[in-house]
Amino acid sequence: MVDSKAWNWKMVSGEKAKIWLEPSIESYYLLERWKNQGKKEFLDLGCGLGRHTILFAKNGFNTSAFDLSKEAIHRTEEYAKQENVVVDLKIGDMLNLPYENQSFDCILCRNVISHTDTEGMKKIVLELKRVLRKNGECYLTLGSKDSWGFKQETWTLVDANTRIRKDNGPEDGIPHFFADYDLIYKLFSEFSIETIYQLEDFYKNNKKMFSSHHYHVLIRKN
Ligand SMILES: C[S@@+](CC[C@H](N)C(=O)[O-])C[C@H]1O[C@@H](n2cnc3c(N)ncnc32)[C@H](O)[C@@H]1O
Repeated sequence: MVDSKAWNWKMVSGEKAKIWLEPSIESYYLLERWKNQGKKEFLDLGCGLGRHTILFAKNGFNTSAFDLSKEAIHRTEEYAKQENVVVDLKIGDMLNLPYENQSFDCILCRNVISHTDTEGMKKIVLELKRVLRKNGECYLTLGSKDSWGFKQETWTLVDANTRIRKDNGPEDGIPHFFADYDLIYKLFSEFSIETIYQLEDFYKNNKKMFSSHHYHVLIRKN
């Protein structure tokens, strides 16, 4: 299995940090869905700067946040203080989640669990199953094989689905697992897959347009 590596959040401040402080569109849907289902224990897995941690904590969820990056956890802690919410924060590797079995009703891991290889991905799926309660749900995104990243031959290929990113940004040296529909169905075969879709999102970098493709998957533990 390749080594895990945290994002270098020290490279992300000022203007660059803005998008990481604005909750993602689907997080508002999940907030309403999980509130209506009476879910209470929420985990923001790979919380980054804490945009979803704070959203859920402010809306009455018992919120835990977890990341491999010390800087991410420090900045999420400061954000929680500023917003006057209580959050349980932990630093660690998603390959071994530091939580008891069946701790959570709902988990959000947006653009996180792809940061490993195929073996690691199998381990994370087991960890999600372990820490979720019966009927617990998890919303996750996975990089798609349609993404430009999967086609970057300068990024070392470590197995059939995984490349190590190579650039000057906060993700340099971080493994990226890329999925397709069949692989996702196989990986999550022991869960109910509630919804699955692939999105192409567009962004500008040095005045050039780029896009990347991610699968968005909502799973439920039976
Ligand atoms: C793209 S950021 C997403 C942050 C957050 N989910 C959001 O949507 O704002 C990916 C995050 O996953 C974390 N990460 C990467 N590998 C990890 C691992 N093995 N265990 C825990 N967190 C990890 C990174 O440090 C980073 O904070």
